[in-house]
Amino acid sequence: MTLELTKEEQAMLDGEYGRATQKAMEILTALGEIYGAKKMLPVTSVQISGVSYANLGEPGLKFLNSLATDGKVRVLTTLNPAGMDLEEWEKLGISEDFAKNQLRVIAAFQKMGVVTTATCTPYLVGNIPHYGEHIAWAESSAVAFANSVIGARTNREGGPSALAAALTGRTPAYGYHLDQNRKPQVIIQFEGKLENVRDFGALGKAIAEVAKGKIVYIKGVQNATIEELKGFSASIATYGGVGIYHIERITPEWKEYALPDETITLTQKDVSRHINEMSDEIDDVDFVTIGCPHASLREIEIIAELLKEKKVTKEMWITTSRPVKEIADQMGYTKIIENAGAKIAADTCAVVAPIKGRFKGMVTNSAKACYYARGRNNFKVQIKPLKEVIREAIQ
Ligand code: F3S
Repeated sequence: MTLELTKEEQAMLDGEYGRATQKAMEILTALGEIYGAKKMLPVTSVQISGVSYANLGEPGLKFLNSLATDGKVRVLTTLNPAGMDLEEWEKLGISEDFAKNQLRVIAAFQKMGVVTTATCTPYLVGNIPHYGEHIAWAESSAVAFANSVIGARTNREGGPSALAAALTGRTPAYGYHLDQNRKPQVIIQFEGKLENVRDFGALGKAIAEVAKGKIVYIKGVQNATIEELKGFSASIATYGGVGIYHIERITPEWKEYALPDETITLTQKDVSRHINEMSDEIDDVDFVTIGCPHASLREIEIIAELLKEKKVTKEMWITTSRPVKEIADQMGYTKIIENAGAKIAADTCAVVAPIKGRFKGMVTNSAKACYYARGRNNFKVQIKPLKEVIREAIQ
C-alpha cells in the first residue's frame, strides 16, 4: 500500500470512530490507491451532489440512512440542488409521492449535520473556501469555479466520495490537489467580444470542442463578472469535462505556471456558431428558465426590474438557492416576479426536477441548461441573453 495514513486516519479505518466513518475511510483509501495518492489531505469544505430522489432512488436512500445511523460530518458541508423546492414543491407541480421521498433524503443528510441548503452555487451562500485551500466538491460547475476563480483545490468528486470526505474531513492527495495537475496545457487566444452570460457559455462550449479535455489558458478576455464566470465554469465543465481553467489577468493562478507552446485561436465567429448550435427551431416556446447555475441576487434584481408590471405568458422558473431567495423576498424582488406570474424555485433546478416530457420548447441564457434539457428532458432549446429571455417570457 503506497497510501500512508496518519494515526487518526488509521483509527477511522479500523472503526474506532464508528461504522459510518469507517465506511467513509474505506471509500477514500480505495480511491486514493486507484489514483496513486501518497497521503490524505485535510479538507475544510464539502459540497455533495446526487441529492435528487429521482437520481438516488431507494437504494441510494438506503445507503444514506445506513451512514446516518452514526455518521456526523466534520467540516462545513452543503448540498447540490434537490428534485424540488423543499418548501413550495406544490407550485412546481411535483407529486406528493415524490415530495415525501425527497424529504426523506434531506432528513438523512440533516441527521449527519449537513447544511441542507440545496444549491450548485455554495460559494454564493457562505460555503466559500479561500485560495489554496483543499476541499471536496461534487458539482462540476462549482468544481470549475472553485479551482479556477477562487483558486481552491478540489477534484470532481462523486456523491459518495464527497460524503466520505465530509464524514472524515479528508480527501486523497491526487488530481487537482497537486500543482502538476493544474498547469495549463494549451493557450486559447480569443479574438472577439463577450457581452453576457450567454456569450461566455458559448465560448466555454467552443473551447471544449477544440481543447479536447486539456487545461486551457485563455487570452483575450478583457473582464468578466461573477455571473459570467459562473456560467462559463458550468459550460466548460459540461461540454469539456474539465475542472479547471485559467484566464489571463482574471483568475488567481494565471501567473503561477509556465505557459504551454500550443496556441489555438477562437474568434467571434466560433462563439456565434456555438450559439446557433444551441438554438433549435421552436414553434412553440412553453418554458423559460434562468438560474443554471443558481441565480445570484444581482441576477434576480435585474429580472425583477425587467418583469416589473409585466405578465409572463409561459411557465417561467428562476432557480436559485434558498438564502438568495430569502434576500429576494426581503428586497421585494420575489413579489414583483410572482406578480408577473413567474416562479422563483429554490433548492432545485430545471435539470434535476422530474419534468421530463412536461414541456416542448425551452428558452434560457445557460449553455449547461441547454445541454441537459436536450439530452435528459428531450426539450428543444434556444439560448439567448437574459434580456431577450425575459422578452420571450412576456411576449
Ligand atoms: Fe445547477 Fe442544475 Fe444547472 S444543479 S448548474 S442549475 S443543471
